[in-house]
Amino acid sequence: MSGKEPAMAASFRPRILAMQFLAAIAFVSVIMRSGASDPPLTLDYYASSCPSVFEIIREEMQSEVLSDPHNAALVLRLHFHDCFVQGCDGSVLLDDTATLKGEKTASPNINSLRGFDIIDRIKSKVESNCPRIVSCADILTVAARDAVILVGGPYWDVPVGRKDSRSASYELANTNIPTPNQGLISIISKFLYLGLSVTDTVALSGAHTIGVARCENFRARIYGDYELTSGRSPLSEVHLSKLKSTCPAAGGGDNNISPLDYETPNTFDNSYYHLLLNGEGLLNSDQELYSSVLAIQTKKLVEQYAFDTAAFFQQFSISIVKMGNLTNPDSFVDGEVRKNCRFINA
Ligand code: HEM
Repeated sequence: MSGKEPAMAASFRPRILAMQFLAAIAFVSVIMRSGASDPPLTLDYYASSCPSVFEIIREEMQSEVLSDPHNAALVLRLHFHDCFVQGCDGSVLLDDTATLKGEKTASPNINSLRGFDIIDRIKSKVESNCPRIVSCADILTVAARDAVILVGGPYWDVPVGRKDSRSASYELANTNIPTPNQGLISIISKFLYLGLSVTDTVALSGAHTIGVARCENFRARIYGDYELTSGRSPLSEVHLSKLKSTCPAAGGGDNNISPLDYETPNTFDNSYYHLLLNGEGLLNSDQELYSSVLAIQTKKLVEQYAFDTAAFFQQFSISIVKMGNLTNPDSFVDGEVRKNCRFINA
C-alpha cells in the first residue's frame, strides 16, 4: 500500500457516506410517496367553465410586475411555500382566525413572506368573471408561472384543477420549508421527502436569481465563510463590505435587505449560478450547493446551469411543474374553491 492511499480513503469517506445517506433518503421517500396517486390536474380543466382565466391572471400579473418588478419574486416564493406544506392547496394564503391557525406566522414566513394582496387582487378579478370556479391554489400556481415569464424566464404549461384546503399547517410550515442556515444534506432531504430530486433542488434554487433576503438570513454567511468561498477577490471584497454595512454583525438591521442576485436582481436568468461559481451566494444554503464538501452532484449541476441558460430554463420548467403537482390528497376529498383566498368558505 502506498503512503497516499489512506489519505485518499479518508478524503473520499465523507462523499461515500453522503451518497449512502442520500440513497437511503431517496429510498424512504419513494416508499413514502408510492401510495400517492397522480394528481387529477389537466391543462384544459377550465376550458368551458372559465375560458378566460389564464388571460385574466396574465393581465393582472403584467400590471403588478410593471408597477414593481419585485412583485414577481413575491409571488414565486409564495407558490414554493404553498406547495411545501400539505401540497399546493392555497394553505399559505389563509389568515389566522379564532378556529384556524394559519402558516403566516411560522418561522420561515413571519415578517418575510409577502404578496398576499397581489393574489387577492387577481382573485377578485377572476371572481367577477367566473364566480366560485377557480381555486386560489390554481391562481397562485399560474401567477407564479406568469411572474417568471414577465421578468425574462421560461414559459411552461400549468396543469390546473387544484382545490383549496380547508386547513393549514403551522407545524409543517416550520418543518418542511428549508431554512438558509441548514446544511446541504438537510436541505436536499426536505426536497427528497416531497418526491423532488437533487436536480430539482438545484434547479428550483435558481429562483434566487430574483428577489431579496433580509439581513437576519444572511448575517451568518457574510460574517462566516463568505471570504473563504469568494477567494477574497477585490470585487468580492467590495461587495462584501457593502453587505456588511447593510447588515451589521450585531446591533440590529435584521430587516435590512439585499438582492439574492446582485448582478441582475430583477431578471430571471442564470446569473445566480455565476455568483455561486464566484463564491458569492448570499445565503449559506445557496453557496453550499457549490462549495460544500458534500456538493458532488449539486456542484456539477451548478456549473452546467452557469454555462448553459437553456439547460437551466428547461430543468427549472420541469422541476416547477413537478413541485406544482404536489397535491394535498385531502383537498380533493373535502377541498373547495374559496370565495376569499384568506378564509375557508363558511
Ligand atoms: C433550497 C432551499 C431554499 C431556502 C433555504 C430558501 C430560503 C430563502 C430565504 C431565507 C429567503 C429570504 C427571505 C427573507 O430574508 O425574508 C428566500 C427568498 C426567496 N426565495 Fe427561497 N429558499 C429556498 C428555495 C426556494 C425555491 C425552491 C424557490 C422558488 C421556486 C424560492 C424562491 C424565493 C424567492 C423568489 C425569494 C425572494 C423573495 C423576495 O424577494 O421577497 N426559494 N429564500
